[in-house]
Amino acid sequence: MPTAPLVSPSPDLRERVVVTDVALRDGLQNQTQQVGTAGKAALMRALAAAGVPSIEATSFVSPKAVPQMADATAVIAEALALTPLRASALAPNLKGLDRAVAAGTQEVAVVLSCTETMNRKNINMSLVEATRVSCETLRAARAQGLATRGYLAVAFECPFEGPTPPERVLELGLALLEAGADEIVVADTIGAAGPAQVKQLLGRLLPHLPVDRLGLHLHDTRGMGVANAYAGLELGVRRFDASAGGIGGCPFAPGASGNVATEDLVLMLEQSGFATGISLPGLVSAVDLASSLLGRSLGGHCMPWLRRQLSRAASEPRATAEESPAR
Ligand code: COA
Ligand code: ZN
Repeated sequence: MPTAPLVSPSPDLRERVVVTDVALRDGLQNQTQQVGTAGKAALMRALAAAGVPSIEATSFVSPKAVPQMADATAVIAEALALTPLRASALAPNLKGLDRAVAAGTQEVAVVLSCTETMNRKNINMSLVEATRVSCETLRAARAQGLATRGYLAVAFECPFEGPTPPERVLELGLALLEAGADEIVVADTIGAAGPAQVKQLLGRLLPHLPVDRLGLHLHDTRGMGVANAYAGLELGVRRFDASAGGIGGCPFAPGASGNVATEDLVLMLEQSGFATGISLPGLVSAVDLASSLLGRSLGGHCMPWLRRQLSRAASEPRATAEESPAR
């Protein structure tokens, strides 16, 4: 079965990769179709049932800026009922952090774009101000015992300013680390990178940022999301964001299309011999649910193949566990 790793040690011996599904936040924030809290809760339950260990559930931003995230408090309440699922939320400033803490959020993320224009478009701040506010938000979150993630948005290319200088990404990453980010998430917000750019940027960052605290957040605009993740894997990165069904995009970054699909990423990781703890049939159910919530068909590149495996397994009830695409 092609889902089996090429070298197949027992699951306990396989190296673990942590996948954070961001469909609820990065995925939904860009959708014109409004999804209610009940629909979001159902999607979180489906992701938890598929074994997804970590999600980004919502963002505590201005509801005028992103109306889809106006129910952040209620969404976090639903997420908290799904422990051990880890649920983080975006909080761009102290006001967002206060709201997140009041809602019971245990992990928050700040978003610092690596260019002047992107910060202005996204959070209405200069690069200097955004750096200061992101750092003060991280420090305050850590002081209150929260886990923290620091996104470096447009780390490869900015839709307004073009290629981003790696030196700046490093400088901002070090600032977020110093301010208390547990994890630095290097984001290809508009999906402009290819594997060579991923290797080049990581090559600049890794001597200074510990690889076990580095994550990659990839978009699939040019169809290179999985290839980019593999480039990161080869350099030791073991944390990746992805979005069930491949939905996603930043409303303030023109040209951004969906995140790399969780099902594509998980299939690649498992087939490459890594353990994610995520069930592919479970992901198919989550993607089907997301499709019904958004009223259109969703799915990553592997979805037609996955569906064929599932229908074949259903028509062959005697198939062994090894022969089904269960993991
Ligand atoms: N949550 C909710 N409301 C917030 C807020 C937050 N985190 N931060 C500020 N506000 C409110 C203020 O209280 C104020 O409300 P009022 O108009 O009722 O007085 C209003 O938003 C404007 O506040 P101000 O500080 O002037 O912010 P701004 O207009 O410059 O906007 C952000 C700054 C960060 C709040 C806004 O740009 C934003 O929410 N951006 C989100 C971007 C995003 O989610 N991008 C996608 C993810 S990368
Ligand atoms: Zn994104």
